Amino acid sequence: MSRVVLLTGATSGIGREAARRLAERGATVLFTGRDRDAGRAALSEVRRAHPESEGAFYPVDFADFDAVRRLAREVRADRDRLDVLVNNAGTSRSERRTTEGGVELTFAVNHLAPFLLTNLLASRLRESAPARVVTTTSGLHERGSLADLDAVVRGEDFDGLDAYADSKLANVLFTRELAARLDGAGVTANCVHPGWIPNTNLVRNATGFSRVFTSAAALAASVAPVGPFERVEGAADALVYLATSDDVADVSGAYFDRKKQSSAASAADDPALRRRLWERSAELVGLPVSAPEGDPLA
Ligand SMILES: NC(=O)c1ccc[n+]([C@@H]2O[C@H](COP(=O)([O-])OP(=O)(O)OC[C@H]3O[C@@H](n4cnc5c(N)ncnc54)[C@H](OP(=O)(O)O)[C@@H]3O)[C@@H](O)[C@H]2O)c1
Repeated sequence: MSRVVLLTGATSGIGREAARRLAERGATVLFTGRDRDAGRAALSEVRRAHPESEGAFYPVDFADFDAVRRLAREVRADRDRLDVLVNNAGTSRSERRTTEGGVELTFAVNHLAPFLLTNLLASRLRESAPARVVTTTSGLHERGSLADLDAVVRGEDFDGLDAYADSKLANVLFTRELAARLDGAGVTANCVHPGWIPNTNLVRNATGFSRVFTSAAALAASVAPVGPFERVEGAADALVYLATSDDVADVSGAYFDRKKQSSAASAADDPALRRRLWERSAELVGLPVSAPEGDPLA
C-alpha cells in the first residue's frame, strides 16, 4: 500500500525536492505552500514522478491558524490514513511582523503552525501506526533562547536571525515533548537539521543570513557539498531518510544532522522548558494542554 505523506512547505527548496523523491518511491504526497503557481508546478513534478499516485496540493498560509485548522480538516476528510507528517515549511524575516493575534510571525509559522497541525492530525497518525512525524529544524537552534518565552512570542527587541534561531529551538523542544507524549502509540517524532543550503528562497530572502552564509560558500555549495554546506538534493535526502528508512523506524525524540543522529543544544534537554513551551503553545493556538492525547477535532 502506498504510504501517505503530508509534507509542508513543498512549493520550493528542500521540500519541493523531497516531495518529488517521496513520490518516486511510491508515496502519495500531499503538500502545502502559499504560492499557488509554484504549488501547481510542484504537483506536476510529483505526478510525473509517480503517475498513479493521488498527490495533492493544499494552499495554506501558516500565519493563519484558522487556515491550519482547515488544512487538518481537509486532510482528515480526504484520507483515512496518514503515515508520515513532515513539518518542513519555514520562514525567516528581516523585519518584525505579527499575526492577527499579535504573535511574531517567525514563531507563528515555524513553531505554532506545525504544533497545531501535528496535534490536529495526531489521532490520524495513531490510527495509521507505525507512523512518523519529522520536523525540519536548523543547526541555528543552538543560538536560540526561549528563557523569556513571552518576549519571543511578542517579538520584543526583534532581530530576524535570533527570531529564526528561537523558532528552530522550539522545533527541537516540541519534537522531544511530542515523542514523550506519543510514547507507546507507534508514532515516532524526530527533527533534522538538513545542512546549510545557501540557495533556497528562505536564505535569499533573509538579510540576517548574510552574516552566516558567505557568497564563496554559497557558490561552492551549489556545485558540491562542502563541510556543513549542502545541496538541496542532499538536504531532501535527509528528510526522505527520516520519513521512510527502516534504520530509524524505532528512533524517537532524536535530533539529526542530516542523516546522523547528533546531540542538540543543551537548552533542548530542559524538561521544564519543554513542558512550558508545550503548554504556552497550546494556549496560543487554542488547544487543550493535554493534546495530542485528546483529539480536538474528534
Ligand atoms: N536553507 C537552509 O540552509 C536551511 C538550513 C536549516 C534549516 N532549514 C529549514 O528547511 C526548511 C525549508 O526551507 P528551505 O531552505 O527549503 O526554504 P524555502 O525554499 O524558502 O522553502 C520554504 C517553504 O515553506 C513555505 N512557507 C514559507 N512561509 C510560509 C507560510 N507563511 N505559510 C505556509 N508556508 C510557508 C514556502 O512556501 P510558499 O512560499 O509557497 O508559502 C516553501 O514551500 C525550513 O523549515 C527551514 O527553516 C533550511
